[in-house]
Amino acid sequence: MQIKEKLNQLIAEAAHKAGIALEEPRVVEAGKPEFGDYQFNGAMPLAKTLKRNPRQIAQALVEALPQNEIIAKAEIAGPGFINLTLSAEWLAERLKEASSSERLGVGRRKEPQTVVVDYSSPNMAKQMHVGHLRSTIIGDSLANLFAFLGDEVIRQNHIGDWGTQFGMLIAYLEELGEGAEGSLHDLEEFYKAAKKRFDEDEAFADKSREYVVKLQGGDVRCLHLWEQFIDKSLGHCEEVYSKLHVKLSREDVRAESAYNDELAEIVSDLEAKGLLKQSRGAKVVFVEGEENPLIIQKSDGGYLYATTDLAAIRFRVQVLGAKRISYVVDARQAGHFKQVFAVARMAGYAPEDVELEHVSFGMMLDKSGRPFKTRDGGTVKLIELLEEAVERAKEAITQKEAYDEEELEKIAEIVGIGAVKYADLSINRESNYIFDWDRMLSLEGNTSLYQQYAYARIQSILRKYEGEIEGHVTIGDELERRLALKLLQLEDILHLAAREATPHTITAYLYDLATLFMKFYENNPILRSDVPEDLRQSRLIFAQTTARTLRLALELLGIKVLDRL
Ligand code: ARG
Repeated sequence: MQIKEKLNQLIAEAAHKAGIALEEPRVVEAGKPEFGDYQFNGAMPLAKTLKRNPRQIAQALVEALPQNEIIAKAEIAGPGFINLTLSAEWLAERLKEASSSERLGVGRRKEPQTVVVDYSSPNMAKQMHVGHLRSTIIGDSLANLFAFLGDEVIRQNHIGDWGTQFGMLIAYLEELGEGAEGSLHDLEEFYKAAKKRFDEDEAFADKSREYVVKLQGGDVRCLHLWEQFIDKSLGHCEEVYSKLHVKLSREDVRAESAYNDELAEIVSDLEAKGLLKQSRGAKVVFVEGEENPLIIQKSDGGYLYATTDLAAIRFRVQVLGAKRISYVVDARQAGHFKQVFAVARMAGYAPEDVELEHVSFGMMLDKSGRPFKTRDGGTVKLIELLEEAVERAKEAITQKEAYDEEELEKIAEIVGIGAVKYADLSINRESNYIFDWDRMLSLEGNTSLYQQYAYARIQSILRKYEGEIEGHVTIGDELERRLALKLLQLEDILHLAAREATPHTITAYLYDLATLFMKFYENNPILRSDVPEDLRQSRLIFAQTTARTLRLALELLGIKVLDRL
């Protein structure tokens, strides 16, 4: 149910009837309960353009509102706000409808589009780090969300598997021979050891450089070593994906190297289009308003990160048919994407009807506000971080209840991983994010555990009631009216979160929903014997729909729920 759209339509009709020129009215959710459920604040700006009194305009709009079942009350307040309160009967009927639908009344987009979500995209030379963790978590939730709303989603893991450092790495891999297996276990260490050899041994350094050239020239043996290395490195990432319940497979990998053969052509194409300039021996494109140009080819002939990204955009638009490309990459790359997008537009790789968006996110910080590192300043191993999450989840949940060993393992995994993901998703992604174990595993506040408990609690109510749930919804008090409205806002929320690529819109909604339900439940007993059966049925529908909504939204975020907790 897209409630806002319905209200906007009614207001547009009213404006038409009243002869007021109003394009695309936009209602907003009311800031306070005393302002009703929604507000239309457009009369004030309209009054300015029309040079009329805003209250008169509001009055005219209210009077011209067509006959409808949705709005119970439209009141004018202050300088010309229109406060709208929805009809309880209408909400009750819609809730009943939503509760009997598999998708909880959420429709699929009328015009689905192909969306490429570029996320995770770690570099193979090194261990995946916390920046990639954020990208993986946020990107996966967005991909799920877009797909649920009906878009054709193509996940792209644009891994960094090419560049001069691979010469050194494969030279070292070869040198270790049989012994490489163990050393590759820790890529960070492997990289350090190779670098040490490179810095200390002239012959090794020469060999490394020779291998870069050979690799680029397609030498079979070097390619083989390189493939072995990438396979191992990707394997590490996949361990993380699987622990995170993230849906990224080898099919989603389209690595930087996949574009190698297109790079020379990108250069000649930019040249032919008159976009390429020479700057200090390099081939560059100047972007209006930017001081430094985007380097496309270095003076030594080498290509850059940006060149590959241009080839990737062209591929995504022309071959994959993307209409929206979302890059889930940390904020420090904002400059890169701004320029790459601009050049892609200039070169016609991304026509105007293709949306290019940098879904940027801030840094992960520790509790003291410093970049998240190990005690000695190294990169935190993600697998170890996730294992710690599970261990800490055990502690958190056993404080409330005792579990047997096997059950505890299973539950802790879902709770711990959920906590890490939810904590990341629940803040505005643009801001830096403080990683805090205690807060993320707390039972109170906007956490996954809070939602998981709410869900399990409802499941336990539903288990105790053994009969069918098939009655009608009746809305008796204000709390029920608000809960019904909240439940019916799901579709609006999902669309908003998808439009703006903001998973935190969903977590904020979930928190409100779970909190509202708890209040409802305190005031409206369900199973108590003195509750009349028709009322019980109605309240059961509230409970069941709340649980299903929590579950659906959490699953879109990539977080599992538990029937018992
Ligand atoms: N590999 C890059 C990094 O780790 C991220 C790639 C993001 N995607 C892209 N198409 N540039 O910084």
